[in-house]
Amino acid sequence: MEQAIVVEALVKRYGSLAAVDGISFAVPSGTIFGLLGRNGAGKTTTLECCIGLGKPTAGSIRVLGLDPTRSAGLAALRPRIGVQLQATSLPEKANAGEVLELYAAYYGIAPRGAEMAERVGLDGKLDREIAQMSGGEQQRLALALALQHDPDVLFLDEPSAGMDAFGRRIMWAEVERLREAGKTIVLTTHYIEEAERLCDRICVLQRGRIVADAPPADLVAQYGGDATVSIAADRFAPDTALQALGAWTQTEQCWKLATHGEPGLALAAIVTHANAIGAKVDSLDMHRPTLEDAFVALTGETLLESAQ
Ligand SMILES: Nc1ncnc2c1ncn2[C@@H]1O[C@H](COP(=O)(O)OP(=O)(O)OP(=O)(O)O)[C@@H](O)[C@H]1O
Ligand SMILES: [Mg+2]
Repeated sequence: MEQAIVVEALVKRYGSLAAVDGISFAVPSGTIFGLLGRNGAGKTTTLECCIGLGKPTAGSIRVLGLDPTRSAGLAALRPRIGVQLQATSLPEKANAGEVLELYAAYYGIAPRGAEMAERVGLDGKLDREIAQMSGGEQQRLALALALQHDPDVLFLDEPSAGMDAFGRRIMWAEVERLREAGKTIVLTTHYIEEAERLCDRICVLQRGRIVADAPPADLVAQYGGDATVSIAADRFAPDTALQALGAWTQTEQCWKLATHGEPGLALAAIVTHANAIGAKVDSLDMHRPTLEDAFVALTGETLLESAQ
């Protein structure tokens, strides 16, 4: 598969701090690549290097075969990339439609205000002054500005931050539509549901280094740990057949099974056994490893918020 982005041994130092400390990754064309990590992990710095904002201290970057750290490469690249930065500052006095026109003029294309407004859920709001738009509305406009010139590669830095659940879903649908249209997307996020749903591949950064880079399901399988089934039931104890399903531990309140196998089948077997021995079940709980479990294992901390 053709690579839209290739980053090799990228380093970006701010004084003595290595904000990005020797990372390499590649993003195949037509896929969504997630950069995840705690605050300060180096996500924005990485994106900035890829879009020609700030010179890398070392390493190489190619986006669509072009070098964004050189002015010739960047000039050729600009019309082909779309960028939604974490903090976009827009002219306060202008209205949304005017800003879209301004960007269209910059890219030398006809403005597509109405179409863009519809795509990001800002219909009827093009005459709204930036200063009077809510944070989430400004985020939607920033997405529209990134998309209007129909770029091949999109860099979205926390595109759903500050958006309500509805806005987030519009954004997700838009990102999925873009992938279907063959676009390549790099996004950062702190929302677990977003990462799981959108990303073909997730790269976890910690203190400027990559600690994992794999499809979400592989991260869960590799780092998420065992599935568990817990049962609290009077007079319950696992028999030999149940013991063979995995590792059992007993606390005062319950028995807990950790299993590599399918937890749904284990749950069924546990309930059947509890019924057979006449144990009265007080509570039953099954937990499949999640992407968040993988992150906790990888980084030692919960770093993602769940999208409500
Ligand atoms: N212009 C700068 N000058 C000095 N240090 C900087 C600069 N920009 C970023 N840093 C530092 O580099 C590190 C990485 O910052 P970066 O913005 O890339 O993190 P991030 O992963 O995007 O975090 P967040 O989730 O908070 O957006 C941080 O320690 C930050 O303080
Ligand atoms: Mg950031």
